[in-house]
Amino acid sequence: MTQVDEQPLLKTREEFPTLENSVHLISHSLGAMPRKAREHTKSFLDLWEQDSIEAWSNQWLPHMKTLGNLVAKVLGVDAGTVIMNQNVSTVQAIVASCFDWTQKRNKIVYSELEFSTVHYVWQAQARRGARVNILKSDDGMTVPLERLFNAIDEETLIVPLSHVLFRSSTLQDLKAIIKRAHEVGAYVLADCYQSAATIPLALKEWNVDFACGGSVKWACGGPGAAYLYVRPDLLPLMKPIDTGWFGHAEPFAFDMGEMRYANDMWRMVGGTPAIPALYSALAGWEIVAGLSQTAVRAKSLRQTTMLRSLAEKRGFQINTPHEDAQRGGTICFDFGGSDEVAKELNKRRFFCDWRPGCGIRASPHFYTTDEEISRFIDEVDRIR
Ligand SMILES: Cc1ncc(COP(=O)(O)O)c(C=O)c1O
Repeated sequence: MTQVDEQPLLKTREEFPTLENSVHLISHSLGAMPRKAREHTKSFLDLWEQDSIEAWSNQWLPHMKTLGNLVAKVLGVDAGTVIMNQNVSTVQAIVASCFDWTQKRNKIVYSELEFSTVHYVWQAQARRGARVNILKSDDGMTVPLERLFNAIDEETLIVPLSHVLFRSSTLQDLKAIIKRAHEVGAYVLADCYQSAATIPLALKEWNVDFACGGSVKWACGGPGAAYLYVRPDLLPLMKPIDTGWFGHAEPFAFDMGEMRYANDMWRMVGGTPAIPALYSALAGWEIVAGLSQTAVRAKSLRQTTMLRSLAEKRGFQINTPHEDAQRGGTICFDFGGSDEVAKELNKRRFFCDWRPGCGIRASPHFYTTDEEISRFIDEVDRIR
């Protein structure tokens, strides 16, 4: 395991007042709120009040770009290649709406372990002619790479997959999957919601076609601020049916003729952006983008190992892969009555959650101390 200096990570605790009276092991679902989120949100309100319509062009739209560029840094892609939108379901639906599903190459391949919302988006493309191939998992945690490789063929158009699976925190081999997909001419859309800000990403180097995620979880940014990356050489081919005036080359021309898409990432936006959410998300992304992602990952692996061994000692069932290389930032553990214990933990301000078929999910993040992990497990003991 790589040894890193964890002090710069722990120093961020000053930015999270909520850590003074609660233990947050819930970054796979809702990252702790940074102090500055309030200040940035207030600055949105101040601009609205003071600058009125002037705020749009002078502040709000440039802010959307600033935030997209911070996200781009964390994803390991170039500035200007990421655009913000409301949520992952929306950005995936926009991507899906770019394709003609009546052609021979119209297969969508993903597994039953994906997050339900993206399944609803892709399954719905069947109504437009797509063939949806949902792969089974044998253990409820993983899908063998070979099974995925065999399913991705010359008729596959896209493979929408999570880099880290939400239920088990399994880290999928994105690089290898992209390579396989490209061998047969298929695209990969990587949902990095559960990996960005906890696992170092080099999406440009890995040559991913599309990537998306949101700000709610590991990025500590709150809801309503999702992101989409499109590989720059693919962008001119993208002509989403799900669109709106902010995707037009000249929104203020109010042109009623043929849609003329913007030349940049704005073409992937629909209507008016949700600006307040983009202000509340800024503080989290600023913190995350300022940290060494390698250090974040090394600390996460050390602390998830610690948490797992404490859970194992108590005889709990572990529902997360054992190997570091196959694991994201969460440890899932289960025992009889774990759902009730999770409810009580939250009441006592030990924030975590519970999912069927998985048990309690707990995620140390860059701000978590070892002492908090020990206290969390002690509290589990007390409640049981
Ligand atoms: C991997 C993954 N994708 C997507 C989502 C949610 O998508 P949306 O932003 O559409 O709510 C989640 C969890 O909330 C998730 O864990």
